[in-house]
Amino acid sequence: MQTVKAASHTLHLVDRYELDKQTLALFLTPGADPYEATEEFLFDCEMRADELPRFLRRALLEFQVHSNPEGILLLRGLPTDPDLSQIHTPGDAKRSTEKKTHVSERCLAMIGSRLGHLVSYIQEKNGDLFQNLAPVKGTEKVQASSGSQVRLQFHRETVFHPYAPEYLLLYCLRPDHDRVAETTYASISHALPLLSEEHRELLFQPLYRTGIDYSFGNLQTVKGNGPILPVLYGNRHDPFLNYDEDLMTAITSEAESALEALKDAVASVYRGVKLNSGDLLCIDNRRTVHGRSSFVPRYDGFDRWLQRAFVVRDLGESAVDRQPGERVIRTTF
Ligand SMILES: [Fe+2]
Repeated sequence: MQTVKAASHTLHLVDRYELDKQTLALFLTPGADPYEATEEFLFDCEMRADELPRFLRRALLEFQVHSNPEGILLLRGLPTDPDLSQIHTPGDAKRSTEKKTHVSERCLAMIGSRLGHLVSYIQEKNGDLFQNLAPVKGTEKVQASSGSQVRLQFHRETVFHPYAPEYLLLYCLRPDHDRVAETTYASISHALPLLSEEHRELLFQPLYRTGIDYSFGNLQTVKGNGPILPVLYGNRHDPFLNYDEDLMTAITSEAESALEALKDAVASVYRGVKLNSGDLLCIDNRRTVHGRSSFVPRYDGFDRWLQRAFVVRDLGESAVDRQPGERVIRTTF
């Protein structure tokens, strides 16, 4: 594993490797259809992942067990779908009707299987396990993955949800035209030292109310309509983080000042990464919040295109809200 120093931060990435023919074939050889035969596709991917080179499995194992101070692991230069240059970015950010191969889905499922189990949410893209993220005309200013011309504010993925994913995987099929869009991230390990003892104490108490996401039906972006939570939880010196810059509110004025201090801390420690075709970013959703810089889409069929997958450590936790044998979490709000 390579580590690259960027200012005071270390980017944990797996990079500068050449995949041998056998490894490439694990990703490229056609198999079950991820949309028509989902379980078979996932089982096949998990078994293929057992054959990945040792250094890749080791990097993923270390990330799963110990995470790291950034709470991210970037795998650069994974294989891409053949003929990708001729396939249009789906302008509605729904399933691509043009992409007939499933290399991007296989990258997500194989890497995801080393961290946990892929799940989806019924409200997100109709429960698709692999979600296309692309700019959608008319939603440029929206705080959601379809937006573009506003900064997507820092958030833990589905912070309001009882079965939020432990990992979020973003695979890049195509960067933006101007190569300016950055996926931004900030970890609590880096933000915590900037917070006073008093503010930390407040953030560990259930004094905060989060909001339901725009994509889960909160179209008016009402703030504070979700559950009451502490922002920090777990180990006092190495905590986990519930945070949504846009939708979270405090229920007392003291708690509000602590939330403001956290916002400032996140703003001063965050970093950005420009994803290229074949890059896969794994985000530890309990330690690290993420967002996106703004960019200008052209709507010419070749705009920025990512695919996303959610990973949980334990499928059993959400069993009450899933149908047996299915991955779709159907919790209602
Ligand atoms: Fe997100």
